[in-house]
Amino acid sequence: MKLFLDTANVAQVAEVAEWGVLDGVTTNPSLVAKEGKDFKKTVLEMCKHVPCVSAQVTATDFAGMKKQGEEYASWHKHVVVKVPMTTEGLKALKFFRSKGIKTNTTLIFSLPQAILAAKAGANIISPFIGRLDDAGEDGMALIGEIMQAWCQYDFDCEVLVASTRHPRHIADAAMLGAHICTVPYDVFKKLPMHPLTDSGLKKFLADWEKVKK
Ligand code: E4P
Repeated sequence: MKLFLDTANVAQVAEVAEWGVLDGVTTNPSLVAKEGKDFKKTVLEMCKHVPCVSAQVTATDFAGMKKQGEEYASWHKHVVVKVPMTTEGLKALKFFRSKGIKTNTTLIFSLPQAILAAKAGANIISPFIGRLDDAGEDGMALIGEIMQAWCQYDFDCEVLVASTRHPRHIADAAMLGAHICTVPYDVFKKLPMHPLTDSGLKKFLADWEKVKK
C-alpha cells in the first residue's frame, strides 16, 4: 500500500520523506489556503521529495479545468491533476487521460461515483471516509464496496483512501486492499508509535547498561 501525506506544508513533507516510507502528497485548496504560500512553489518543492503530488483544479467547467490542469502538469512530471467528481470533471478526466496527464478524482462519496470516475479515465479515485463518518455514515464500508467492485473488473485506477482521521483507518484500508492511503501529518506521526515499543526499548537499554558494567 502506498502512503501519501495529506498536507500543503513542505516542511512536513520533507520530514516524513526522510523516513523512507512516503510515496506522495495530496494537497487541496483548503490545505493550500491554510499555509498561505505560493501554490506553484509549494508543489514544485514537494515534487523534489516525492514522485506524486496532487494539485487540485479550482475551475468548475471543462474548459477551465483543462486549462488549469494542463498548466499544473507542465510544472513537473510528478504532478497529478486533482479533479472534482462532477459531470464537467468527468469530461476533464477523459481529456487528461487522452493526453497522458495523470489524474486523481476528489470528493468521491459513493460507489457509482467511483465507477464513473474510473470509466472516464481517472488514474486515482479519492473516496472521503472521514467526512462520511462525520455525516453519520460508514466511510470504511464504502472502501469495502469499491474494493469488491474493483475485484470484478479491470479498472486501471487506484483507490486512494482520503479524509483519514486516525491510525485505525490506515490499518482497515490496508486490510481491504486499498492501493493508497493519504494521511494528515498529525496522524502520520502516530503511525510509528506504540507504548510497548517505548517501554520495551527503555528496558533493553537499561539492561544493556548492566552488561557494559
Ligand atoms: C485528500 O485528497 C483530501 O482532500 C483530504 O483527505 C480531505 O480530508 P478532510 O476531510 O480531512 O478535509
